[in-house]
Parts: sequence; structure tokens; C-alpha cells
Amino acid sequence: MKKHNALLASSLLLAAIAFGCTEAQPAATEEAAQEQAATAPASLKDAFEQDFHVGAALNGYQASGKDAKATAIITRQFNTISPENLLKWGSVHPQPGEYTFGPADEYVALGEKHNMFVVGHTLVWHNQTPNWVFEDGKGKPASKEALLQRMEDHINTVAGRYKGRVDGWDVVNEALNDDGTLRESKWHSIIGEEYLEKAFRLAHKAAPDAELYYNDYNLWKPAKRDGAIRLVQHLQRQGVQVDGIGMQGHWGLEHPSIGQIEESILAFSKLGKVMITELDIDVLPNPSNRNGADIDATFDFDEKYNVYTNGLPDSVQQQLARRYADIFALFHKHRDKISRVTFWGVTDANSWLNDWPIQGRTSHPLLFDRNYNPKPAFEAVLNSVSTNSPAQ
Ligand code: XIL
Repeated sequence: MKKHNALLASSLLLAAIAFGCTEAQPAATEEAAQEQAATAPASLKDAFEQDFHVGAALNGYQASGKDAKATAIITRQFNTISPENLLKWGSVHPQPGEYTFGPADEYVALGEKHNMFVVGHTLVWHNQTPNWVFEDGKGKPASKEALLQRMEDHINTVAGRYKGRVDGWDVVNEALNDDGTLRESKWHSIIGEEYLEKAFRLAHKAAPDAELYYNDYNLWKPAKRDGAIRLVQHLQRQGVQVDGIGMQGHWGLEHPSIGQIEESILAFSKLGKVMITELDIDVLPNPSNRNGADIDATFDFDEKYNVYTNGLPDSVQQQLARRYADIFALFHKHRDKISRVTFWGVTDANSWLNDWPIQGRTSHPLLFDRNYNPKPAFEAVLNSVSTNSPAQ
């Protein structure tokens, strides 16, 4: 507790120093802060350089490089990037035979320019995939053969275009229900369970050098964890390349527990790489006990769930910093198992949590605030490195 408070007291100043924008501060604090700043790693990618990649999901504007303030954060802080939406089926392949690669090309070029680990997200998902994919010309369900053919064309064209340039693909996203059974998506109902194997085999053929992942939310839940293990093990036993599991980190201030996350990290590490792929901590109240990240599970706007429109109260700011410190302490402890940690967004201003599960709220889930300034949580994450035991 004491450690956390001291850490938080100096965090804003430290962050300001790290960002080269120091202002007059009380001498004692400043001295202490400067002393620490001299030894503390000033960026996330440097802090965890020996451990795992650290990254963020970029929107189209950020990927284009037109948001200069975002670019400064991205290039300074991160050594891996993910595409928030611009490589999803609906973005790159909106109509049959029509591909729009402009934003995706910019995204990949940005990653290459800065020597980053470039992630592709995602090839096969039930969301943000246009209806035509699953239909015949008359609005009836497509045949199995037609859907398999579309999947093949899509993966060949998209993964093939970035062969040797996208370093890892979320091949299949969210194929599981929370109880660990296979989701009854249109992929599943039309093709059957083999769609999973097909997707991974096609991705490997199209991009032989890329790492291939299974990615999902709520993977800390024991039943879903077991489902993911069954799914990946089944594929691997058939000789299908699955290099790792991405745990979306859409978590709350109190849940899941560190122990629950840890159990999944340990279990998944037996199958391959473990990645925390979509990290953000929701600080806003919600109308239900929701967890996870089902993008279809939404609620109507109600002011009573939009409680921090004028910024985070200090107590919550500190709670968020502590939560991030605890989470990164866990990641650092298991740095031999974790290959990447990616935030789902760069700053609070663009977080998808401003519009999900309720539209039009002011959310505060990331390490950088709406003005692109580092929050106390940023410093807490940097400090989690030095306050840690050896990898286990
Ligand atoms: C979200 C994006 O952040 C939003 O901009 C979009 O409107 C919906 O999708 N799980 C995933 C991500 O795998 O692709 C989702 O991203 C969040 C949940």
C-alpha cells in the first residue's frame, strides 16, 4: 500500500519528465523524481524490452500518421501494433470481389517503418463480417462449398498480400461460448467444426512465416479456458499450426482476479505463446454484471452510467494505477511465457469503451488520457518492472 502511494504521488511529475515537459515543482519532490527518472526506463517498450512486446491497437487515422500526437506516443512507447478495425473482413473486403486495402497498407507500412511487430486482426470472425459472406445471392444461407471458397479467397488475398510483412495473425476470433462450447456462428453452422482447421491451414499457406493465433475474450473463465485448450490442442494434434493464444484483456477494476488470469497464462503456455491482446480496464459502472467483450451486448444510454465526464476522481485514478501495476507485475512474473501485451487503443479519447457497451460515454481505460498525457497508471506500469520477482 505504502509503495503504491509513494509511486502515485510522484507519478504525474515523473511522467512529465519522461515526456520532456517538466514544470516548476516543489524542490523535494522534483529532486526525488529526477533521481528516479534518471534510472527509470522512460518508455513501455524499453521497460519490457527483455520481456515481451508492448503495443496498441490503432485506428485508421492513427495508422495513417495524420494524428501527430498519437504517432509520437505510438513510436515512443510501442514496438508492436494491432489494427483496431482496418483489417477486419468488413473493412478490407466489403463486397464480393472488392477489396479496399488503403488503410491496411498504411498500417503495415507504419509498422515496418518503425521496425514493429505487426499484428493482423482478424481473418475469421462472426462480427464485422458482411452478411453477403454467409448468404447466396437470394438472402438464403450460403452453401458449405461457397462459404469455404469465400474463406479461401479472403485469406489468400488478405494474408497473402501481407505475406512476410504481417508478423502474426489472429486467424480465428471468438469461436467459443463462455461455457467453452463452440459458438454457433454462421461459420460453424454452415461449414461445421472443420472451419477452424481450414482457416488455420489456409492462413499458413498464404503467409507461411507468420505466427498464427486463436484469440478470444473471457479466457480467464475456467470453462472457457478449458474450451480454448481443447480447441487449440485438437488443431495441433492434427498437425495444424497454432502458435499461441491471445487473451483479450477487456477487464474491470476488480475482476477478473490476478489468480484467474494467472491460471490461464500458465495453462495456455503449455500450448504455445501467450499474448494479452486487447488490454483495457473499464472504470465505468454498468447496467449488468457484464464481463467479456461481446460487441453485440449493448445497452441504452443513461447518464447514471456516465459518471466521469469531467475526468477521473483521484481515488479512481489511483485504483486504476494499482490495478495496472498488479496486472503488469503478473505479466512480468510470467515474462518467459508471454510474448506480447497490446492495449486496445492509444489514448482514452479513442477507446472503443466510449461507445461500448453504451454509446456516447466518457471512458478512461488506458494509460494515456484524452489529452494524450500519461496517467498515473502509466508510471505504475513502468514501475511494476522494478518491483518484481524473477520469472516463474
Ligand atoms: C472493436 C473495436 O474496437 C470497435 O471500434 C468496433 O466498433 C467493434 O470492435 N473484441 C475484438 C475486437 O476482437 O476486434 C473488438 O474491437 C473488441 C472486442
